[in-house]
Amino acid sequence: MKFPTVRMRRLRENILVRNLVRETRLSLDELVMPLFVVEGLSGKEPIKSMPGQFRYSVKELVRECKRLSDAGIKSVVLFGIPERKDEKGSGAWDAKGIVQQAVQALKKSVPQILVITDLCLCEYTSHGHCGIVSGERILNDPTLELLAETALSQASAGADMIAPSDMMDGRVEAIRQILDQNGFEHIPIMSYAAKHASAFYGPFRDAAESTPRFGDRRSYQMDPGNSREALREIELDIAEGADIIMVKPALAYLDVILAARQNFKVPIAAYNVSGEYAMVKAAAAKGWLDEKRVVLEILTAIKRAGAQIILTYHAGQAASGRWLEK
Ligand code: PBG
Repeated sequence: MKFPTVRMRRLRENILVRNLVRETRLSLDELVMPLFVVEGLSGKEPIKSMPGQFRYSVKELVRECKRLSDAGIKSVVLFGIPERKDEKGSGAWDAKGIVQQAVQALKKSVPQILVITDLCLCEYTSHGHCGIVSGERILNDPTLELLAETALSQASAGADMIAPSDMMDGRVEAIRQILDQNGFEHIPIMSYAAKHASAFYGPFRDAAESTPRFGDRRSYQMDPGNSREALREIELDIAEGADIIMVKPALAYLDVILAARQNFKVPIAAYNVSGEYAMVKAAAAKGWLDEKRVVLEILTAIKRAGAQIILTYHAGQAASGRWLEK
């Protein structure tokens, strides 16, 4: 069958038919809003490289989450920035640490919102790396214990889900074990499984003050050229007990998302990262792009590729602007 019997445009003529045959739809249920909470800050301060995003005190964070929840946001992922950093990143597993305080406050005042905690040491270490440092090397195995301690303290504070983003080998297993041994067997792990060493994290590192003081993250994060390796990372994390796996960044890695979708049955998340957000914001500010349409196209593309959960700094705007509603 071919033209003129087949006419692809037949299904595009009427908006009701177009909506009927649309394959990919976005929902606020699937968007996760990343937020930065800063120790020793009063109020909130704008993040220059991420227009529209802020660093919040615990009190302001609670206010913002109430607003987000009222607008229809269901989940947030928290990043903590401590007042003091040290070699080991001990602020990360401090029972009174910044993320622990934030989780407790949110669970008390905005209990309806799902609180996911990013689990990494880089915001807490003086050198800015995601693990214990010896000379120029980032040590894997000694870091696992600290990550596990951090997971336990986050779960103890009330986190609903733990999201390790450090890329140490074996960390999902270490975290699953300590959670299970302490009565947190019901807390899911969303693992940043295929996290690439990306220049798109630039604005985030400003926001989180987590730029490495020496070297870069290429000895633990993945080479951007590798997708077969991404599948091995994902397979290992699932074997270690990850409930949800993540591909990061998202937009420049749609092929990795698709491959993950085709090869595994666990839910797939994708992180539409800070640099992807900043590019859209910058072009929109110049009047070069229609922000709403571009954002919806990007999020649709990420979902079409196979991610059912999307972490995006545009989540709040999509909700408050009612971008997903007709
Ligand atoms: C921490 C972490 C990073 C991001 C999420 N968790 C930064 C990094 O690995 O350097 C990046 C998020 C973004 O760019 O929006 N390891």
